[in-house]
Amino acid sequence: MSDSNSSDEQSAAQGLLSHSFVLFGALGDLSLRKLMPALYQLDHAQLLNEDLKIMAVARSAISAGELKQRVEHTLNQYIGEDQLNASSLARFLKRLYYCQVELTQARDYDELKQKLALWHPQITYYLATPPSLYKDICQHLHQANAINQQSRIVVEKPIGHDLASSKLINDKLALYFDESQIFRIDHYLGKETVQNLIALRFANPLFESQWNHQYIDYVEISVAEDVGIEGRWGYFDKAGQMRDMVQNHLLQLLCMVAMDPPSQLTATSIRDEKVKVLRSLKPIDQDKIATQLVLGQYTDGQFQHQPAPGYLNEADANTSSSTETFIALRAEIATWRWAGTPFYLRTGKRMASKVTEIIIHYKPNSHYIFDPSQADIAQNKLIIRLQPYESISLQVLTKEQGIGKNMRLRRDPLHLDFAQTQSQARIPDAYERLVLEALKGNQSLFVRRDEVELAWQWCDQIRQAWFSAELPLEDYPAGSNGPQQACDMIKTHGHRWYEDC
Ligand code: BG6
Repeated sequence: MSDSNSSDEQSAAQGLLSHSFVLFGALGDLSLRKLMPALYQLDHAQLLNEDLKIMAVARSAISAGELKQRVEHTLNQYIGEDQLNASSLARFLKRLYYCQVELTQARDYDELKQKLALWHPQITYYLATPPSLYKDICQHLHQANAINQQSRIVVEKPIGHDLASSKLINDKLALYFDESQIFRIDHYLGKETVQNLIALRFANPLFESQWNHQYIDYVEISVAEDVGIEGRWGYFDKAGQMRDMVQNHLLQLLCMVAMDPPSQLTATSIRDEKVKVLRSLKPIDQDKIATQLVLGQYTDGQFQHQPAPGYLNEADANTSSSTETFIALRAEIATWRWAGTPFYLRTGKRMASKVTEIIIHYKPNSHYIFDPSQADIAQNKLIIRLQPYESISLQVLTKEQGIGKNMRLRRDPLHLDFAQTQSQARIPDAYERLVLEALKGNQSLFVRRDEVELAWQWCDQIRQAWFSAELPLEDYPAGSNGPQQACDMIKTHGHRWYEDC
């Protein structure tokens, strides 16, 4: 990366915060549940520009007063009492404006244009809408002369459902915005512990010096969700866990663990390193698919001691669906750093509990001198927990205390619990960080076009291989840890999931 590029980025990142924020889909679930609370929290922490104005755009015929009532109601629902302070709330509500727009109708943008004409032209547009509307919104904003070089656009996932459709979306965005103006959200990148991976890896020589195939046996990334489909049947059944979770969140986590150190903490350096990882992912072709991939779908089971319906028995279910609600796979990265060290990714809906963890399984000593019956515990593990209860824990081996114990080993954690070590600091929601960074114009936490497309390319190829091989869909009861076949798959390669260790 050239010096001028990096200094441009640094000044952009430190540059002026946006003065105008326009939220499309402002009455939708994402806006009310996540974005309004995030904007309020930023305001409460005095991180917004003093003169920032927020234009809520939606198709409902409501007044600005009604909008403010709805937002106040939603903030009462989603923000703790200790954070909801009367003067911050009054200040925040004062920033809100409303414009009714039928998003596909060009003429409806006239009023928006007139309103925005009086606003500061450094506008961040946030599209909390289905991607099918991106084209219309961008085109109509362009025709209304509402896009300039200072504008930014934030878009949500999914960016397409495969490589071809993601290219179409990206091409459309590119007609109106330069890549440096486009902020593609993967909310996992806004999570505190994901950001902490950068500090953990690159500020601690202790870890970085051993962060490679010589010391690491395998890496496990597990994202277990306890929720089922929750009324998102129409979307999820077409997507499945591969496209809903692996293509974006899990691959982004994999990149953060696997990437080489960026030369600087700039968007270009970080994203260049992630792209190198994505390019180096080995395809999982038809020959490998049966031993490297397991698909599952939950059946009737128990969740929190209550009967829970299986996927096909959920309300509004497509009863002949073969969509995967669980996936486990073995990924291999063809680089010097990771040759021979697999990354196991696993994610499922309606699992026993919600846990997101990255586990680094270190190699055992090359020569083992302790009790042979304990050989299988003699591996250090670094457990990075993203949610719930953000923490980092290093499992070390010590001697059991007492005489008469000889040299019996035990595994103890060196534990860093962020709620305790930094108890004064509230852990911000991912969207607070992402909205703030978008307002600042810092792209580091957003996904570049080549990242999205490489991730789709890898996932598309795996999907093709599983269809050609007619890979079976394994059952697992709702409320369990997934199908037995996922344990069998990892065991075939001589490894184990952390919870089985
Ligand atoms: C979303 C997926 O991107 O991430 C959902 O579409 C999933 O299906 C959610 O439930 C998980 O996010 P989190 O932050 O709760 O782990």
